[in-house]
Amino acid sequence: MLQKIILLWWFFSLGFGVESRELKFPKGFKLGVATASYQIEGGWNADGKGTSVWDTLTHDHPELIADHQTGDIACDSYHLWKEDIANLKNLKVDHYRFSLSWPRILPDGFSNVINPEGVKYYNNLIDGLIANKIEPMVTLFHWDLPQNLQNLGGWTNPIIADYFADFARVAYKIFGDRVKYWITINEPASICLGVYEYDDGAPAFVKSPGIGSYLCGKTILLAHAKSFRLYDTEFRAAQKGKVGITIDSIWGEPKTNQSQDIEAAEREMQFGLGWWAHPIFAPQGDYPKIMKTIIAQNSKSENFTKSRLPLLTPDEVKLIQGTFDFFGLNHYHTGLISNKKFPVDTSPSYIKDKGTEVSANPDWKPSPKIVPWGFRKLLNWVKKEYNNPLVIVTENGYGDEGGVDDKDRVLFLKVFMEALLLAVLDDGCNVSGYTVWSIMDNMEWRSGYTVKFGLYDVNFTDPRRGRSPKISAQFYQNVVKTRTLPEK
Ligand SMILES: *[C@@H]1O[C@H](CO)[C@@H](O)[C@H](O)[C@H]1NC(C)=O
Ligand SMILES: *[C@@H]1O[C@H](CO)[C@@H](O)[C@H](O)[C@H]1NC(C)=O
Ligand SMILES: *[C@@H]1O[C@H](CO)[C@@H](O)[C@H](O)[C@H]1NC(C)=O
Ligand SMILES: *[C@@H]1O[C@H](CO)[C@@H](O)[C@H](O)[C@H]1NC(C)=O
Repeated sequence: MLQKIILLWWFFSLGFGVESRELKFPKGFKLGVATASYQIEGGWNADGKGTSVWDTLTHDHPELIADHQTGDIACDSYHLWKEDIANLKNLKVDHYRFSLSWPRILPDGFSNVINPEGVKYYNNLIDGLIANKIEPMVTLFHWDLPQNLQNLGGWTNPIIADYFADFARVAYKIFGDRVKYWITINEPASICLGVYEYDDGAPAFVKSPGIGSYLCGKTILLAHAKSFRLYDTEFRAAQKGKVGITIDSIWGEPKTNQSQDIEAAEREMQFGLGWWAHPIFAPQGDYPKIMKTIIAQNSKSENFTKSRLPLLTPDEVKLIQGTFDFFGLNHYHTGLISNKKFPVDTSPSYIKDKGTEVSANPDWKPSPKIVPWGFRKLLNWVKKEYNNPLVIVTENGYGDEGGVDDKDRVLFLKVFMEALLLAVLDDGCNVSGYTVWSIMDNMEWRSGYTVKFGLYDVNFTDPRRGRSPKISAQFYQNVVKTRTLPEK
């Protein structure tokens, strides 16, 4: 009998409950939008700004950018920031996540020379946001490394962690009276793998698979930790802000129910997300054990004298562990993961180390690019793996070819926010914010202007870079206003 009742309850909750259920954001939940300096600002050499690796790449190697374009002007937000604020105000978002251009503030990358015009630009933007009751959420590093520091080896040189901390100190000191949410580094995996493993970032032509990628990774972890500790010792008491890091992750769904694919999917998560999150968020700190074990084994069979993974000393493990007030999470895709065996040879790589293959499932509904249940599973994985840390979703969004009639983006945002709310309300995931990438179309790195993520269209052939709201802007504005997802 009890079984029958449970079955009946299950049937009703599945068949009817979910469909007619109104999903409301909890009180205090923050809804926002995001951008990054290189992708929107332009003004690449305006008023004393130094050169970044993205300036160098797009100028020297236009053939590496899908449409051979640069971010020299991009959305021209360096000049049009008042329009950006007007659009943010129109959406009535709670927060705006943007990044500081390191070389705009410190032209040579070093903190001995501060560019007053760069400081003024961000002061104007921050003051404008606050005047309109929009919380600034500031990313210190979103990929536009000063070229001068790249010339020293960029993130493969551990000294960059100290120069990053110097930059963080300048930013906390100047802006920290008004900025209460800091993200140290955006998407470490995209930086280290993009540059050193896959050669699809900036700079180009410095590939070093399975070696440079891990050197870069260690420097990034130390840079994050040092800038967090610095906030603790020098600023927290007076400024009372929060500091976190933003990590990107796919959800890795096992391709089959065979144990080797289930284990492969777990490895995919540990190598992809755990590489960054385990040292910071797991109570024991350090890289995930499986990474240390496999990379050491592979290094040995490749005849290296020691592991290609630069180990963390006990002091470094301690320095890094616990350096968070929140977990910034970027998510876009779900992948099918299967186990892959690589030949035993002397060539190292990250892909060989993780021993997986990632594919898409063409049958996924509503489409292989829109997999909301993967987002829910990812949020639950973070909850389980790291003791339910406070998560702020710092990016989520949909790329298309552009145009204001963006029904697919509306569908994407709706079903992903639904999945997020089910994770919060039904699964107890500790998520306090959601941020759409992006408020407007912008310079999508090596893809140039061929992929659009904006709620606002930007006319890139118009010297005035006119912005127009898409259908999705209207949709998101309504969600922010009602704090409720519309029914089907
Ligand atoms: C694996 O097993 C689960 C539970 O039986 C099932 O729901 C799922 O569809 C299976 N997945 C695959 C890929 O066969
Ligand atoms: C590593 O060195 C040993 C001893 O010289 C050799 O037998 C083995 O083939 C080497 N491994 C690879 C993957 O080349
Ligand atoms: C969510 O995280 C915050 C900050 O760490 C913590 O105070 C709160 O107890 C957490 N909530 C849950 C349900 O774990
Ligand atoms: C973009 O701007 C150009 C130049 O001002 C104009 O000719 C064109 O019609 C605009 N495109 C759209 C779609 O509005």
